[in-house]
Amino acid sequence: MTSKPTLIKIGGSTLGSTDTTFEDIAAMAKAGNVPVVVHGGGAEASRWLDAMQIPSRFERGLRVTDEKVLPVVVAVFAGLVNKRIVAAINAAGARAVGFSGADGRLLECTLAGPEFGFVGEPNAVHPEAVIALRAAGIIPVVSPIGFVPGSPADQLVNVNADTVAGSIAAAIGAESVLFLTDVEGVRGPQGVVVPALDAATARAYIADGTIAGGMIPKVEACLHAAALGVPATILDGRLAHALLGKDGSGTRITA
Ligand SMILES: Nc1ncnc2c1ncn2[C@@H]1O[C@H](COP(=O)(O)OP(=O)(O)OP(=O)(O)O)[C@@H](O)[C@H]1O
Ligand SMILES: [Mg+2]
Repeated sequence: MTSKPTLIKIGGSTLGSTDTTFEDIAAMAKAGNVPVVVHGGGAEASRWLDAMQIPSRFERGLRVTDEKVLPVVVAVFAGLVNKRIVAAINAAGARAVGFSGADGRLLECTLAGPEFGFVGEPNAVHPEAVIALRAAGIIPVVSPIGFVPGSPADQLVNVNADTVAGSIAAAIGAESVLFLTDVEGVRGPQGVVVPALDAATARAYIADGTIAGGMIPKVEACLHAAALGVPATILDGRLAHALLGKDGSGTRITA
């Protein structure tokens, strides 16, 4: 097994489509390079919140998480979506174990800000469980729930899945981090996908609104990883074999 894993972030919006993500992940593991998986699930969470008549609200790409939203996102991300992904990877012939960022104290957070409610910003990553599973040939599948240390229990918090992926990739010194999403890459001012984006241009696009919504935390997570020497790429997860393809599609983010 190579010592440096590839970190794969599966966008919730691509789940359920007929892509080849799970078979590609299983193939990587069988070839001896066990990846680490982080997933989102924003679309699924919004469906459950709608069904419960709880409105979804976003600020700078982050889901505002009040005391009604929090139990639903914990249940959907750490439960339903996580177990679906574990089951799909297992069915593809590999072995996966799912857990959240609260398990093993993986993702220690502070609150992102009062305007976001129970949204966490990772400030320490404790990756022992991820490393141990990988060493046993098991694919760790991490849901985007973290914790703020407290008493009598740690406070569970919602963390943007891209932020989780960037933080874990940086903490474990990943070989690379790949963000699978539902667009071809990052669109520039003309609406055309740009193959590469440096930090200054990325920040300018965020400031002028070219990069918006869920693409903001994704590009920021790429910048975080790239600054620590982990190459980061945003890929179209709807394409067959996007993970294995070395065709240069998507957007590469450089520090
Ligand atoms: N400049 C841009 N280029 C490409 N997509 C953009 C841009 N600005 C905003 N977006 C939006 O960002 C979305 C991708 O982020 P989104 O958070 O919705 O998905 P995800 O991160 O893959 O899934 P999840 O949040 O469930 O993990 C795109 O579908 C698009 O609507
Ligand atoms: Mg997102």
